[in-house]
Amino acid sequence: MKVFVVGAGVMGSGIGQVFAMAGNQVTLYDVREDALRKAREGIAWSLNKLREKGVVKDPEETLGRISFSNSLECGGSDLVIEAVFEDLKVKGEVLREVSAKTKGVIATNTSSLPITELSTFVKRPERFLGMHFFNPPVLMKLVEVIRGEKTSDETFQFGLRVVSSLGKYPLPVRKDVFGFVVNRVLFRLFTAGCSLLALYTPEQIDYVAMNRLGMPMGLIMLLDYTGLDVNYNIAKEASRRGFEFQCPPLEERVKQGKLGAKSGEGFYNWS
Ligand code: CAA
Repeated sequence: MKVFVVGAGVMGSGIGQVFAMAGNQVTLYDVREDALRKAREGIAWSLNKLREKGVVKDPEETLGRISFSNSLECGGSDLVIEAVFEDLKVKGEVLREVSAKTKGVIATNTSSLPITELSTFVKRPERFLGMHFFNPPVLMKLVEVIRGEKTSDETFQFGLRVVSSLGKYPLPVRKDVFGFVVNRVLFRLFTAGCSLLALYTPEQIDYVAMNRLGMPMGLIMLLDYTGLDVNYNIAKEASRRGFEFQCPPLEERVKQGKLGAKSGEGFYNWS
């Protein structure tokens, strides 16, 4: 299958890698040359790591299935996956452009925005769905497959089959609500964790999350890991829509340029 991934950030590059590992031909697109360079380096690092673990046989061959491109020519792709910044306007512009160029299925990797809302930007909403991967896409097994009001049966079933073909577990989401299933749960947990930051250190809160709640990574560390800017944007959108995801210390850090793991500092020091 020919897969075109729009956006070579952490999610886009991870998604591209997952599809290449399953034998697909992938084009990873970004306008920023440095993003493409970082994506190639990150994927090469990850494939080598996975070879050490016996998950990938030939990292070079797998990397060879990915082309890195700054041209949005996605016509001829069987599937286009949009993985740009989590913002309705930004995603809308990209989806409109992509939809004018391809007749293939378009999936969005939005982590919270309803598919029905995003579908207003595409020409063929029946061939549009949500495919929500988790960070890091290469290691996380679950993928939410979300059906918008206009997504056809055929497209939804195609999405479920594609995710299974990657060796992942597709979670069918038929109620197209803000945050879907996973993030609706996470919003509550983040809100609880953040409210304790005035009283406890991130390490103490995360110790409880990991050792009492059994999470693989603490709540505050997870905010850093997935990006404070990403979470800040989601929190703003959530409260605009009347959902509970409050974390006042996020704003303060984002304004100081502390974006978590990717910038070297967030609630933790990552450098
Ligand atoms: N590719 C290949 N290998 C990787 C990797 C990658 N992308 N990332 C980490 N690894 C490797 C590490 O290098 C390490 O290798 P070694 O054993 O050789 O040292 C190994 O995987 C284990 O990693 P760590 O020792 O760092 O730590 P870990 O055992 O905790 O595993 C983790 C890492 C899988 C990320 C785990 O901490 C985890 O599951 N964290 C929670 C992640 C999560 O919940 N993600 C969802 C967030 S919500 C979201 O994404 C969506 C949203 O909507 C915002």
